[in-house]
Amino acid sequence: MRGPFLLLEMRGIGKSFPGVRALDAVDFELCAGEVHVLLGENGAGKSTLMRILSGACSSDTGEIRLDGQSVVIHSPHQARALGISTIYQEFNLVPHLSAGVNIFLGREPAQAFGIVNHRRLHRRAGEVLTQLGIRLDPATPVERLSVAQQQMVEVARALAFDARILIMDEPTSALTAAESRTLFALVRSVRDRGVGIIYISHRMEEIFALGDRVTVLRDGRRVATRAVAEVTVGELIRLMADRELKDHFPRRRVPPGEPVLEVSQVSTRDKLRT
Ligand SMILES: Nc1ncnc2c1ncn2[C@@H]1O[C@H](COP(=O)(O)OP(=O)(O)OP(=O)(O)O)[C@@H](O)[C@H]1O
Ligand SMILES: [Mg+2]
Repeated sequence: MRGPFLLLEMRGIGKSFPGVRALDAVDFELCAGEVHVLLGENGAGKSTLMRILSGACSSDTGEIRLDGQSVVIHSPHQARALGISTIYQEFNLVPHLSAGVNIFLGREPAQAFGIVNHRRLHRRAGEVLTQLGIRLDPATPVERLSVAQQQMVEVARALAFDARILIMDEPTSALTAAESRTLFALVRSVRDRGVGIIYISHRMEEIFALGDRVTVLRDGRRVATRAVAEVTVGELIRLMADRELKDHFPRRRVPPGEPVLEVSQVSTRDKLRT
């Protein structure tokens, strides 16, 4: 944990969907200048928690505080206005427009006679990209960029909108190893500017390369929050799954009377995922 300044507190967040308790009284907090990894098996509730924070869905219970102030987040638009930006896997960029225009889309720098000053806009965009260590010509149309470059434009866009909290949901899933390393450098540089980053990942090497703290969710509950420097891979796997990876025998029988719905969903998801 780099910065002691508490940006975000989520307290007692609960959310149910028909037949599923997606989140059960989850607490989560984020400091300025930290990468807080959110970890959990498929269906643990990670995306749902972040969708609530980003205004994409509402919670049934609980409270969100930003800078100690209680807020109600009704929409993605409002979340952005509060400084919460999400990097989605499906990008929100306009393909035929330049990277620079996309970075400032919806908030172009001061206009003369209602016409966007493209030279100035691209210069400003170039500054944002350079500050982030991103080598990319802001005049390039987004459709000519790789997925990794588009993701970088998304991050630059978030910062141009003064994001203080950046949510990344499995951002390396479509990237090559080299592209992932470039993204890690970008994430670190954003963190070092004091932005709080919530980073969802299953990949252990990423957690240890990038994370300051890690929160583990299991079946919609928070089971632990730890400093990454103080946990091991084995411990994280145990926390995620509540079992040792190499168990030859189940240590205890599943007691009769477990909810049938939960059990069948877990096994279905596993089969679908592996
Ligand atoms: N819109 C929805 N309608 C119904 N059920 C949902 C909805 N969104 C999520 N769920 C359920 O809520 C639970 C938590 O899902 P969530 O997507 O948050 O998990 P996750 O931790 O992000 O999983 P993954 O690693 O697969 O992305 C799951 O059981 C899921 O099926
Ligand atoms: Mg998810």
